[in-house]
Amino acid sequence: MKAAIMGYGTIGSGVFEVLNRNREIIAKKAGEPIDPVRILDLRDFPGDPAERLIVHEIDEILKDEAIGIVVETMGGTSPAYEFVRNCLLAGKHVVTSNKALVAAHGTELLAIAKKMGVSFLFEASVGGGIPIIRTINESLAGEQIEEISGILNGTTNYILTKMCEEGWSFGDALKKAQEMGYAERNPEADIEGQDTCRKIAILTAVASGKEVDYREIPTEGISRISDLDFSYAARMGAAIKLFGFSRMMDGNVYMEAAPVFIDVKNPLYSVDGVFNGILVKGNMLGTSMYYGSGAGKLPTASAVVGDMIEAVRRTCDPTAPGWSEEKLCISPASLLPRKYFARFEGSRAEKKEAVEAAFGRVKWMVLEGLDEFAVLTSPMTGAEFDAAAEKIGGLRQKIAAEL
Ligand code: HSE
Repeated sequence: MKAAIMGYGTIGSGVFEVLNRNREIIAKKAGEPIDPVRILDLRDFPGDPAERLIVHEIDEILKDEAIGIVVETMGGTSPAYEFVRNCLLAGKHVVTSNKALVAAHGTELLAIAKKMGVSFLFEASVGGGIPIIRTINESLAGEQIEEISGILNGTTNYILTKMCEEGWSFGDALKKAQEMGYAERNPEADIEGQDTCRKIAILTAVASGKEVDYREIPTEGISRISDLDFSYAARMGAAIKLFGFSRMMDGNVYMEAAPVFIDVKNPLYSVDGVFNGILVKGNMLGTSMYYGSGAGKLPTASAVVGDMIEAVRRTCDPTAPGWSEEKLCISPASLLPRKYFARFEGSRAEKKEAVEAAFGRVKWMVLEGLDEFAVLTSPMTGAEFDAAAEKIGGLRQKIAAEL
């Protein structure tokens, strides 16, 4: 089948490389060769192996009836949404790595694909090279999924690891993540948690079969994590990780994208660097974990090519991952009782009474020479925490803790 790639950046060029390097294996698995014949990009690439395939107009792909499958690796929603929509309406399969697109327009694009009898696949949109979407959709098809939690953003996990273990500055770690091709074009989406938010929205939609509006998920990134938080974490033997979380319970789904303290008992504790790790809890299987490279050129391209083979092999698979137009009702995870790590200004001696009156028994942590202290509370809801912290005054940090 003839293929086109829209967007010849880090991932798009990776897809071209995988299709060429693994050409024979791919042809065998797909039942026919998959040949890239057009690559859409605004730029030219003189001297690049793909130079002769570069086109600058989407019509060169849309109007070429020989092209049966299109890869979208442009990122962002505009013009990716219009281009993908038009490719599907032109009867072409589409495979994308673009979580912003899938989270914002997945419901409509899935419906168009179904109507047109083509595939719209997006394995690479979550977890980079980790096969998680097809796993939830197929291998765990007999499960009632109860909880999904995971480290879903390679850039922030890389930054947190380098800051914590090697003492790098935030800026240096981010710069390196950008150089390695992990970060989004605008890394704010990584840093402020939106990328994690979109990914947990997609996983939850696949698991529940219902649309998840990612804008309803409480989202927080890592920009307010400080060196001091790492010092307290080290004292407690804990790691700070950015989690995407959803718990499906009693007909409700509680969701969040936010940093969390975890300890060595959590299997995600040692998921470091650009790696992602995802825990999925099913009502029969219990907890299973999926681990691998969460970002980067070839791991992500590998997941894209896996989807291309799937689309070519099955042409159109009615059981492919997706969800209906029915909307899932989302509640904030802060309604669930959880422990909190919190730092307050002042000294333990002067605030001890107020802290114990507000929180009851807590675990105390004091670092020498600072005009502040930290506590680990017993489980409580976010609202209960806020009310108690208000009574004490001088709150400097609050992070949920699974300790
Ligand atoms: N910027 C994303 C990350 C790329 O760092 O995880 C992979 O989706």
